[in-house]
Amino acid sequence: MSKSTQNRRQFITTSGKAGMALAAMPLMAKINSSSFLTAANEYAQQPLPYGYSALEPFIDAMTMEIHYTKHAAAYAKNLADAALAEKLDTQTTSLTDLIKNISRYSPKMRNNAGGHFNHEMFWQMMKPAPATAPSGALAEAITKTFGSLDNFKAAFNDAAKTRFGSGWAWLIVKADNSLAVCSTPNQDNPLMDIAETKGSPILGLDVWEHAYYLKYQNKRPDYINAWWNLVNWEFVQKKYAEAINKK
Ligand SMILES: [Fe+2]
Repeated sequence: MSKSTQNRRQFITTSGKAGMALAAMPLMAKINSSSFLTAANEYAQQPLPYGYSALEPFIDAMTMEIHYTKHAAAYAKNLADAALAEKLDTQTTSLTDLIKNISRYSPKMRNNAGGHFNHEMFWQMMKPAPATAPSGALAEAITKTFGSLDNFKAAFNDAAKTRFGSGWAWLIVKADNSLAVCSTPNQDNPLMDIAETKGSPILGLDVWEHAYYLKYQNKRPDYINAWWNLVNWEFVQKKYAEAINKK
C-alpha cells in the first residue's frame, strides 16, 4: 500500500475525531488545505490562491486569467475525460500515484495529469511579495549542493532557458535526498516513471509560451528573471521537508 493511500485511510479513520474541529474551520481554509483533499477532488481545479492581478508587475493579470481559466482548466477537464475513458478510479488512486505510474496510461492521460498536477503546484509556488531567499534546511541544502543561492538560480535559469519548445524547469529532491536541477518536456514531471531525471519536485517553472508570451513575447529569459520575484520560498521549504521526511 502506498503512503498516500495509507494517509487517506488514516484520515478516514481519524476524521470522526477531527470532525468537530473541522466544523469550526472557515470554509476556504478547508478547501485550500491539501491535507484534507480527497483523492477525487484533487483531480479538480482548486481555487487560485490569489487574484489574477496579484502577481503584477511580474506576471500580468490577463496572462494569469487565461492561464488559469483556459489552459489549466482544460488540463483538469481533459484529465477527467481520460480518467473516465480509461476507467481510472479517482476515489482510490491519488493523483501522485497516477503520476508515478503514468507509463501504464495513454498519452492523453500523461499530458493532462501532468498538466493538472504541474499547474496546481505552480500556483502555490508563487505569491505576491514573498521572502527573497529560502531559509533553514533548504537554504543549507542549496548552499551545500550548488555553492550559493546565486549559483543555484543560474543552474535553474539555464535549465529553463534551454528547454527546447514547451516544458518545465525543476528543483527536485532525488531518492538519496540530494537536490538537483532538471527540466521536462511538455507537461511531464520528474515524479513520472518515464522521466529522464527522477525526484520529488519542490519548485517548478512553467516555460510554455502561454505562461509569458502576452507580456514578454519571445523574451523567455526576461520572464524567468522576473519570476524569481514571486517564488514562495515558504511553500518550497514545506515541499522540501515533506520530500526528505517521506524517504
Ligand atoms: Fe502553463
